Amino acid sequence: MNTTFRGKHFITCQDWSKGDLDMVFEVAKYLKMKHALNEPCDLLKNKTAFLMFFEESTRTRNSMEAGITQLGGHAHFLDTKTMQINHGEVGKDTAQVLSSFGDAICVRNCVYGEGNNYLRTLTKYASQPIISLQDDIYHPMQVLADMMTIQEKFGNPRKLKVAISWAYATSHAKPLSVPQSQLLMFARYGMDITVAHPKEFPLMPDIINTAYDNAEESGATIKFVDNMEEAFRDADIVIPKNWGGFLGVNNPHTAEGKAQMKENLDKYKDWICTEELMSITKKHSIYMHALPADRGREVVDSVIDGKHSIVIPEAENRLHTAKAIMALTMGGR
Ligand code: CP
Repeated sequence: MNTTFRGKHFITCQDWSKGDLDMVFEVAKYLKMKHALNEPCDLLKNKTAFLMFFEESTRTRNSMEAGITQLGGHAHFLDTKTMQINHGEVGKDTAQVLSSFGDAICVRNCVYGEGNNYLRTLTKYASQPIISLQDDIYHPMQVLADMMTIQEKFGNPRKLKVAISWAYATSHAKPLSVPQSQLLMFARYGMDITVAHPKEFPLMPDIINTAYDNAEESGATIKFVDNMEEAFRDADIVIPKNWGGFLGVNNPHTAEGKAQMKENLDKYKDWICTEELMSITKKHSIYMHALPADRGREVVDSVIDGKHSIVIPEAENRLHTAKAIMALTMGGR
């Protein structure tokens, strides 16, 4: 396992080796133990992380803020609407200035077709690590917490049967980043993956191709189906969640594209995780969701609040994995 991480950008887990990721999980477990013991761990004393948010957040913002405080450092929350970005300041200038002030620049930018490009631009000019807090393609922080949770529950994830399923939601057109990051990560860890989605809600072809490459190396399997039942049957893990139909229309940024996405969405109101669906999974199966969940549309209350649900421990692991990433990239060696 690698032990040198200081200054390393974290845009997608795919850019990090499996040895890197295994070290992150080890550090997260260590920091979780310290947290349980209420033992101080000021690995980032006097360090500053800038947290730039183009969108709303509960878990990501607070796991980063609480996490760096617990490590002895400080986070500046930056709503990008109040930054000069709103007047057109370019990423090159923001990256150079903030990295001259502090020790990491952490960014959430999920604007479809823009977010990942913005983060990649920052990596070219920053002299400190750029840490993704989610973009339009990847949500690396979420999938670390997901994998840590799976490992805690099952041990070695190899050959576990996981269903990554689209689900209906009206709250907003959720990014593709969570299912795409899960597909890539699970394929690296040798899992048997079934992805279920209606035809108008595909994932990005490049991500799917990379996932197949990952699977070839690890012995994972990947199957795509067009219904939830097939994915849920005998699954150890189910992750039903909405993602927007950005790739199912010509241009999701136009009024016409948005209307078409809404029309496509409304055809699939019955894609909801119910107790009947959970009953065809394995007896010990777990229900996961990155949260926030669109209750009553993505999932019924009795499932998300029920015996299979692991969403709160999954969310708690956001804290421990975020601390591991910060400790390694902002501190470490
Ligand atoms: N799962 C997740 O990223 O949650 P937030 O949007 O609340 O940060």
